[in-house]
Amino acid sequence: MKIINIVGARPNFMKIAPIQREMVKHRQIHPVLLHTGQHYDEKMSKLFFEDLEMPQPDIYLGVGSGTHAQQTAKIMIEFEKVIEAKKPDLILVVGDVNSTAACSMVAAKMGVKIAHVEAGLRSFDRTMPEEINRIVTDALSDFLFVTEKSGMENLQREGISDKKIFFTGNVMIDSLVYFMQKAENSDILHQLRLNGQPYVLITLHRPSNVDVRENFVNLLDAFAEIEKELSIVFPIHPRSRKMMHQFGLDKKASKMKNLKLLDPIGYLDFMQLMRRAKLVLTDSGGIQEETTYLGIPCLTMRENTERPVTIEIGTNILIGSDTEKVVTETKKILRGDVKNGMIPELWDGRAAERIVNILVEKYN
Ligand code: UD1
Repeated sequence: MKIINIVGARPNFMKIAPIQREMVKHRQIHPVLLHTGQHYDEKMSKLFFEDLEMPQPDIYLGVGSGTHAQQTAKIMIEFEKVIEAKKPDLILVVGDVNSTAACSMVAAKMGVKIAHVEAGLRSFDRTMPEEINRIVTDALSDFLFVTEKSGMENLQREGISDKKIFFTGNVMIDSLVYFMQKAENSDILHQLRLNGQPYVLITLHRPSNVDVRENFVNLLDAFAEIEKELSIVFPIHPRSRKMMHQFGLDKKASKMKNLKLLDPIGYLDFMQLMRRAKLVLTDSGGIQEETTYLGIPCLTMRENTERPVTIEIGTNILIGSDTEKVVTETKKILRGDVKNGMIPELWDGRAAERIVNILVEKYN
């Protein structure tokens, strides 16, 4: 069984790593690793391959950035040639980035089966590009591997046959479990002079938060209040860095003496920063899940989430992007008013094993 495993953007790497590792254990599977090049900066891509001990991609499409249509189209054109040449039996895609949907569309039209890992998540907000990618990919997939129960319900409601849906747990958590010990060796806290010090960890990159000046300013105002009390560590996404500069906000950020604005950091350093943080403020999808697993308080600066289990039983709270709300919710946690969470079902480090076993068993 020849399977092309697809990665494109930063949040894909830690999802594919455990799957690729599991696949090589099976004689009947020949995994091929393809990187679309949606993310290409060393710190957004290469660093993750190293940290996650991934093999070099067998195929690199080098598509780079662009508008959604440009990026999706470029991936489709290049990926069609790959399918033509390699004739895979199946492609495996993860998550909800443009690479995920683009490769799925190509495979579906060429009669190649598709496995979607992290299927069924819905924010019910079609202004998010990821929501469109999720809907398209799920509609075209033959194997839908789901991380939380809400995903099963969403897919059933959309009329997808039960036979295609498998509740297998969360591969992102597989990586977290696998690399937990190794992350302890990271000296990022020492480098930032934060050993034993309390700090808030922030990530921010959603277009709704950083592509609109007013929203970005509101959040920076909130950070300015928070940094009066304790340090903030903010590894900044290239999109946000670019927008901060375009909006003339660099000075506003540099005035905050307790704000440590960093270039994007690797997987292991980031895991270590999450584990020792007082709380995490984020608009990421995956970080809501990782903090729930680690039991670290998470405030999500969005109006909705496609990962409701992190709210229902995890440590996550949705707070939107209003300045005052961000500040008050942060201060609540700093005062010790912390939501206790539990680890969701099947987030146990063995999701990739379940997925690969199902593929081996059901494929023929
Ligand atoms: C993408 C995903 C998003 C995911 C995020 C994680 C889509 C629609 N979005 O968003 O779901 O949460 O990745 O990081 O697929 N850039 C660089 N270097 C890079 C990559 C990007 O400088 O290596 C800059 C470019 O200016 C680019 C911008 O970031 O135009 C946005 O990159 P893009 O891949 O389009 O979307 P992300 O915001 O990264």
